[in-house]
Amino acid sequence: MRVFRLQVNGDPLDVAAPEHWSLLEVLRYRLGLTGSKQGCDKGDCGACTVLIDGTPTLACLALPATLEGKDITTIEGLRPLHQKAGGQGVDPVQDAFDRCGALQCGFCQPGMILSTKALLSDNPDPSRREIQDALAGNLCRCTGYTQIFQAVELVADEVAGREPRKPAWAQAREQEIAAASPKEEPFQPEHGGQA
Ligand code: FES
Ligand code: FES
Repeated sequence: MRVFRLQVNGDPLDVAAPEHWSLLEVLRYRLGLTGSKQGCDKGDCGACTVLIDGTPTLACLALPATLEGKDITTIEGLRPLHQKAGGQGVDPVQDAFDRCGALQCGFCQPGMILSTKALLSDNPDPSRREIQDALAGNLCRCTGYTQIFQAVELVADEVAGREPRKPAWAQAREQEIAAASPKEEPFQPEHGGQA
């Protein structure tokens, strides 16, 4: 047993736990922070992702003894940290995932959201390819990823004050409608009539 001095979601904490426990076990079974999910428990799924000094990190592979003095952010910390910074409601990334329906069972969502936070703080205007690369370590069994990528694009555009980009299917549909619409003839005034 050892006492770890950790900084979690802005709070300094002394936590007693077996020395060999992972950060994920300390978060879930000592601190009750169960938002970080225990999926594979061996570094494959990304469900346990937290931020360590802003960098996405797999909590199932991180040892608390190596994290003393570092800033640990879990999904539970996003809303209070957002409000402490003067925001209202939930963090904008959480809100965008909600509005885009970017979840089904929700098991992957905390990790996806924290990886998105890290991506957007490094790159506020990511391309679809860059979003896919940034979330490549976060596996989702349910959604097919499309709404997740759309949520990241939505929050990136909204935070930057840009017009939200339309999903590819909406652009294709608009092109189909435009191609199928009869061309409007320019208005020709009639000549020869008496005033
Ligand atoms: S639980 Fe950590 S990567 Fe799967
Ligand atoms: S919503 Fe179920 S794993 Fe992603």
